Amino acid sequence: MGKRLKSGWTITRSKPPKCAVHPPVMVLGLLLRVACAQADRYAGRKAAMTHSPYDDPFDLQPRLAEVRRRDAWRRRERRYGPVGPYAEVDGERLLSFVSNDYLGLAGDARVREAWVRGAGAYGVGAAASHLLGGHTPAHDALERVLAEWVGAERALLFSTGYMANLAVVTALAGRDWTIFENRRNHASLVDAVTLSRARRVRYRDLAALRACLPERRPGRGLIVTDGVFSMDGDVAPVAELAAIAKAEGLGLVVDDAHALGVVGGGGAGTLAAAGLVPGGGIALVGTLGKALGVLGAFVAGSADLIETLIQTARPYVYTTALPPALALAIEAAVDIARSEEFRRTRLARNIQILRAGAARSGLRLTASETAIQPLILGSNEAAVEAARHLRRAGILVGAVRPPTVPAGQARLRITLSSAHEEDHIRRLLDALIPFAQKVS
Ligand SMILES: Cc1ncc(COP(=O)(O)O)c(C=O)c1O
Repeated sequence: MGKRLKSGWTITRSKPPKCAVHPPVMVLGLLLRVACAQADRYAGRKAAMTHSPYDDPFDLQPRLAEVRRRDAWRRRERRYGPVGPYAEVDGERLLSFVSNDYLGLAGDARVREAWVRGAGAYGVGAAASHLLGGHTPAHDALERVLAEWVGAERALLFSTGYMANLAVVTALAGRDWTIFENRRNHASLVDAVTLSRARRVRYRDLAALRACLPERRPGRGLIVTDGVFSMDGDVAPVAELAAIAKAEGLGLVVDDAHALGVVGGGGAGTLAAAGLVPGGGIALVGTLGKALGVLGAFVAGSADLIETLIQTARPYVYTTALPPALALAIEAAVDIARSEEFRRTRLARNIQILRAGAARSGLRLTASETAIQPLILGSNEAAVEAARHLRRAGILVGAVRPPTVPAGQARLRITLSSAHEEDHIRRLLDALIPFAQKVS
């Protein structure tokens, strides 16, 4: 379009003329293109001959090959349908002993209904962090219920137990602290100690802890422990740890991921079982994706501890809040876990049936009175073979290998639920005993 001037004349812009190329220039251009192509080809050949780390900056193949070589390859299988005593896995219906749904709540109709109701009221996601618009009355109500359950002044919700552990340890401890950690602590507690930059002192048992107390640097310190050890199932000596902590002026953090709902009066956890409550120098972490069957976690303790976490804990401040609909589902699950004592009774019965049957046949399960009942087999090969054998019998049990457990202690990690029937456990024993006797 031309531009109209005041004078009435129009200026139009004509198309630029096609360049007329002089023949010698054309030849020169052609020669240049051929030379460039040759140079590219040469550079490609040279790069192929001199492989440098810059060609594969992630350098993943050797790492993957090493995992394969150690017989430690992990595979994700697809489970269809809800969690229960049976699971449909990759097209097979299997009797399952792998879930942490210790009280059979993951598929409970009342919990599901609360979740749906919550989604109707709040939508499916919180859509913001707690401090920037994601906090709701549903979160508040659940925090009050959780604090009351475990006997703490206050509780604070997190999206996962992993984050709750990172938050509580890093908010409490720093460079000039000493942290005494049990060697069998969960990876999230181990990572939390690393992240805190505190001096790490690892102990095996109470005697070792007492012996290494002098290694404490001048300054403050913590003892951190699983309440129930996730790969062994035994309960930590929480009363003794609390006494040592008090005498030494140390704080105590107990991760009750596998105890909440299962251990202690009303399922209030290992502190409750030891006649203690979170508060003062004791912090409790509870997770909500295991016996409670949903997802999430909380830290319980003094009002000051909770306020400190809200103000300073990075895994609390810089992340999206747990969906409020989940908070409603968790509250329903907590209500059931606290009031339906028969679930803990059934779980205890199931544990007893398994242990008695194993003992009668000389099968040495670890010394555990909780829902986690491991059978240590030693080599990775043995554990994988045992899991395969059970699988052929239509039973699903996890083979746990290093680095999740120490080298030479690969195992079957059998987890029981109140939803299992006596018959289910007998089937497991019938399949396991002849196999274990043959390999031992
Ligand atoms: C002892 C222990 N603590 C913490 C966690 C982490 O909890 P979550 O799965 O909620 O992140 C687990 C879960 O595997 C656990 O076993």
